[in-house]
Amino acid sequence: METVLSGIRPTGNLHLGNYFGALRNFIKMQNEYNCYFFIADYHSLTTHPNPKDLHGNVRQVLAEYLAAGLDPEKATLYIQSDVPETAELYLFLNMNAYMGELERCTSFKDKIRQQPENINAGLLTYPTLMAADILIHRAAKVPVGKDQEQHLEMTRTFGNRFNRMYGVDYFPEPQAFNFGEQLVKVPGLNGAGKMGKSEGEGNAIYLADDAASIRKKVMKAKTDAGPTEPNQTKSEEIKNLFSLMKIVSTPDTVQHFDDLYNSCAIRYGDMKKQLAEDMIAFVAPFSERIKEISADEAYLQRAARLGAEKARESARKTVRDVREIIGFKAF
Ligand code: ADP
Ligand code: TRP
Repeated sequence: METVLSGIRPTGNLHLGNYFGALRNFIKMQNEYNCYFFIADYHSLTTHPNPKDLHGNVRQVLAEYLAAGLDPEKATLYIQSDVPETAELYLFLNMNAYMGELERCTSFKDKIRQQPENINAGLLTYPTLMAADILIHRAAKVPVGKDQEQHLEMTRTFGNRFNRMYGVDYFPEPQAFNFGEQLVKVPGLNGAGKMGKSEGEGNAIYLADDAASIRKKVMKAKTDAGPTEPNQTKSEEIKNLFSLMKIVSTPDTVQHFDDLYNSCAIRYGDMKKQLAEDMIAFVAPFSERIKEISADEAYLQRAARLGAEKARESARKTVRDVREIIGFKAF
């Protein structure tokens, strides 16, 4: 069975974009592949999180992933820092990663612009840590968005370089993986762009949201002045409302409002009320489960320990092999 691996940084709550864009597919994959999903808490240190917040953020992401349907018995769901072998492989890979190629990395250049006051070596070597994440389980497929393609290319470079240097065929070449279905882009509520946690207040609907905050955010969503002639082309804002409706409402409901739009009889307030209610119904089971799981310390602990155990077994084996290939010998 092929090994699939992906990681997420514990930087915020999961929203509908994360769910429809990534998570829903992970949940399907856990039945068909040898899956590793991890919470990238080492990576999150590049922004110097407060020690008081770090564990809480990791815990929240773990609870939300479990609530959304990742099954710790089927997939290996673990926390990166529970597998310190990752850090050892990162060290080895750093010895063969060149300054020039790390400096040329787009995400590093972006960070220099975004946080000029904190350009640390962890940011520079983010691609080698990501390569260590992937190579430690010798994963073949990595489901990630387009923004991660360059990191994956660098992972292949580092893996191949290691193989060449030591004359082995140890690390496979991981490929970006696109689930074999259309990629979805869930729009945000502010009229333009995608739903995302850094796209501004009120733009994202979170799986942990309660009914009142969903209602408030949806009712505030941008609209336009309304259609003035039959079958008028929809503006960006209105297209987005319909796209959101398509993911949470029944086809009949979508059709109903589409007909009203096309006959210029639509009242956006009514459409938003319906959208809010359908979102509330969609999110409610998730937010309930998140609450339950967050309160269940024993379950979180069991899931994290099981994940750590399975991930470490695989990681230990890789590090043992790599040490031997490099030439370390025990006395
Ligand atoms: P955010 O944009 O909120 O910071 P991340 O960049 O952490 O989210 O994305 C985590 C995963 O969710 C990625 O696989 C990404 O492709 C997916 N994702 C995020 N936002 C959307 C969206 N609006 N539509 C579809 N997929 C999304
Ligand atoms: N860099 C990824 C992101 O920003 C997160 C990540 C870290 C990752 N290590 C990984 C993704 C390994 C896939 C595989 O979203």
